[in-house]
Amino acid sequence: MYVCICKGITDRQIKASIAEGAGCMRDLYKQHDLGSQCGKCVCAAKQLLDSEIQACNRCEVVAA
Ligand code: FES
Repeated sequence: MYVCICKGITDRQIKASIAEGAGCMRDLYKQHDLGSQCGKCVCAAKQLLDSEIQACNRCEVVAA
């Protein structure tokens, strides 16, 4: 699914960036130039980032 239509960035690309260490919106801006045109993707990208980080935190709790 496309998150950023202007740049053609998909949720898979964003998830891959998060898995590789992107931990905040600034990281996603740097890697994908996300939100640099119309900015409509920023909220969706933030929700995706938050849900991926929460999922990651749940894994750490289970593993501990
Ligand atoms: S949809 Fe991402 S900048 Fe327009």
